Amino acid sequence: MDLKGKDFLTLLDLSTEEIEGLIDLAAELKEKKKKGIPHRLCEGKNIALIFEKTSTRTRCAFEVAASDLGMGSTYLGPTGTQIGIKETIADTARVLAGMYDAIEYRGYGQEIVEELAKYSKVPVYNGLTNEYHPTQILADMLTIREIFGKLKGIHLLYMGDARYNMGRSLMVGCAKLGLHFTACSPKGYFPPEDLTETCRKIAAETGAEITFESDPYKAVKNADVIYTDIWVSMGEPEEVWAERIELMRPYQVNKELMEAAGDQCVFLHCLPSYHDLKTEIGRKVGKKYGMTALEVTDDVFESERSYVFQEAENRMHTIKAVIAATLS
Ligand code: CP
Ligand code: NVA
Repeated sequence: MDLKGKDFLTLLDLSTEEIEGLIDLAAELKEKKKKGIPHRLCEGKNIALIFEKTSTRTRCAFEVAASDLGMGSTYLGPTGTQIGIKETIADTARVLAGMYDAIEYRGYGQEIVEELAKYSKVPVYNGLTNEYHPTQILADMLTIREIFGKLKGIHLLYMGDARYNMGRSLMVGCAKLGLHFTACSPKGYFPPEDLTETCRKIAAETGAEITFESDPYKAVKNADVIYTDIWVSMGEPEEVWAERIELMRPYQVNKELMEAAGDQCVFLHCLPSYHDLKTEIGRKVGKKYGMTALEVTDDVFESERSYVFQEAENRMHTIKAVIAATLS
């Protein structure tokens, strides 16, 4: 794997071997971290972290990974910078590339992170756009490999709105790494056709199958992993909750669905999650629509079959691998 100097914008840009190489490196760095073995592979380098949307995991993962690698980092949050207001992305890219060795970007359209990469002479990493969330997929795949000891042939079922970043990125990741991918969504909420076609071509080479289904109880048959995400993503207007709740209600991951899937099946979620009414939005939406949980029930989220916190930790190890592979 030679990723030195490369951007990390979507998994479509990487070969199967390169993605596997990143997961292997993440596992190696995770072991080093657990054993307290220093791995300051990027000593003296610096990274700029642009977050035009909020974050807990991705921001912390980048900051801790950078620190462990011996790097400095600067957080540029949704407010307080000139980006987009007084300065274009193209100008920002050239300014930051003059001071930093890498730039992470979380924001809206994929075209923005691509523009940033076009004008930046240092690697640019996609920390989530509306369309893709590639660092999340690396963490998901590391977690699945830790649970099942393999990736190829695993059946991953994505429940919910598969048009957005998580549905799309999981489909790409599964196609590249040879996992069978099913999106279980209401009609019209599957990933876009052109991307599906691209992924089916990749899948034909890796032995993966990509299927779409709208009946949750049909879809769970053979599922090894049930994956879900919040029903309304960052950047979407609040008004969409009403129609989304009605549409997605049958796709909630609950105990009955997990039981129908069988004992082998585990639960994953990129987080954050509305699995109870203990958050501001969870409480507001849950009360309004008479639900005690949204995309996943609390009993599934808290069950032994849920690996969501291992998955969250793996964000850090996998992001560290991306930085190390592209900078050292
Ligand atoms: N999963 C994820 O990207 O979480 P954050 O929004 O907290 O970064
Ligand atoms: N689909 C979610 C993912 C959060 C990690 C969002 O974009 O808000």
